[in-house]
Amino acid sequence: MEIRYFENREELYKAASKHFEEAVANGARTFGLATGGTMEPLYENLRNSDVDFSQCTSFNLDEYAGIPKESEHSYYTYMHEQLFNTKPFSKSFVPVGDVEDLTAAAREYENMLKANERDIQLLGVGENGHIAFNEPGTSFDSETHVIELTPSTREANARYFASLDEVPTHAVTMGIASILHAKEIILIACGENKRDAMQALVEGDVTVEVPVSVLNNHPNVVIYTDLQLKVAV
Ligand code: GLP
Repeated sequence: MEIRYFENREELYKAASKHFEEAVANGARTFGLATGGTMEPLYENLRNSDVDFSQCTSFNLDEYAGIPKESEHSYYTYMHEQLFNTKPFSKSFVPVGDVEDLTAAAREYENMLKANERDIQLLGVGENGHIAFNEPGTSFDSETHVIELTPSTREANARYFASLDEVPTHAVTMGIASILHAKEIILIACGENKRDAMQALVEGDVTVEVPVSVLNNHPNVVIYTDLQLKVAV
């Protein structure tokens, strides 16, 4: 695990954007993408860069259950506004949240992931240590599945909705095993509200109670963070 610490967020996002641009230049073609406020400055840099994703494929981590893709709240809409409208990929997949049989749709999504090895998986982290929507307690063997969101995650994401009641109770998410199948993982974590989760990650105890800690089991993780973390020696 490599930690790239930046005091200055602008520099952090410049470097993270460059990481993607160089990956494409070096032949990476399949990307796992993430949503959340953390990713917005990265996508802004990519939109303003020369990067060309037109030969690339993307798979998003997750989507709210029950939210149609056309909704302003869907991660489908987020991705189009943040990246795809300006930098289209050859193909982009975002899990579908409003089909009748979500479990079957999740299985199909997992099959597509298995058929398309990701060169890079971009990740953020929730305040409670979740990755994608894999809440604490999720099995490390999990594949794409439907999950009930914890009250703390719904509260953290309520800022994007008119009220807490409108935040969906469930989501469809890549599982932890699905995430770890990527060849390289880039994790971006900024801000004090991520400190506890990030400190648990770098301390190295791998536990389902802090899903992000599973990254200790992956051979190729790069972390971009503005948090000075106490790394055990
Ligand atoms: C959501 C997403 C996660 C993301 C997390 C943190 O719950 N499903 O993929 O990492 O939020 O979001 P933010 O970057 O807004 O703090």
